[in-house]
Amino acid sequence: MANKQVTVATIKEMKQKGEPITMITAYDVAMSRNVNEAGVDMILVGDSLGNVILGYNSTVPVTMDEMIHHTKAVMRGNSTALVVGDMPFMSYQASIVDAMYNAARFLKETGCTAVKLEGGSEVVPLVERLTQAGIPVCAHIGLTPQSVNQLGGFKVQGKDIAAAQKMIDDAKALEAAGAFACVLECVPAALAAKVTSELKTMAIGAGNGCDGQVLVCNDLLGVSTGFCAKFVKKYANLHDTTVEAVKEYIADVKARTFPAPEHTFKIDDAVLEKLY
Ligand code: KIV
Repeated sequence: MANKQVTVATIKEMKQKGEPITMITAYDVAMSRNVNEAGVDMILVGDSLGNVILGYNSTVPVTMDEMIHHTKAVMRGNSTALVVGDMPFMSYQASIVDAMYNAARFLKETGCTAVKLEGGSEVVPLVERLTQAGIPVCAHIGLTPQSVNQLGGFKVQGKDIAAAQKMIDDAKALEAAGAFACVLECVPAALAAKVTSELKTMAIGAGNGCDGQVLVCNDLLGVSTGFCAKFVKKYANLHDTTVEAVKEYIADVKARTFPAPEHTFKIDDAVLEKLY
């Protein structure tokens, strides 16, 4: 377990020392406790909540109230990780005033340290305002899932000169605006390494030349079957473990071998005898 509270200054120090930074998503208290015990540096309460936990088919429907609810749960299980709340779709795009209000909700109502928002140069004035107001911002460029309808699907980003140059320009502008880190999603590794010379990068599908890595906890743990992105490494197969365990439970209940005496409460015979 990381034995000291991770702060924005810690993340800066880790970049300077070249020490890889670890980040994982969590959406509830149990996962938060477990990933803290494992020693993760940062927890992202991602709006991937929408797909992973709530069963939406994109992150677009996720609301501020849903994000706050789950971030509060994560904070109850957190000990030392730096927790980042993810600003959901349309909680920051309509106006700076809305965005400031919603970002402040994360810090005031949940106690998390930072917020994450998607976008490049278009969010730079907002990143400046938030950091000036004392709200640390993690940016997110490359594949930005909230814009999936505009991007036309979940595709690798920055493959032509204009798009790759825009990514580098965005990274420079976000760094200058005060973003303390930036998620880089679905970006060719060599381009991601160049972007990493501009600001602190957390890669998801962006290769090994970034400052750190981030994965969705359910992907890393193999909680579900079905589509799995190329960039995911499954470190466990909790889907099979869960299905096997529940099958065993069902069989035990049907065979009346569960609950066994050790799972059962007792009462004195003298009490029982007095009942009519
Ligand atoms: O919402 C999320 O979980 C994310 C990660 C994919 C970085 O943005």
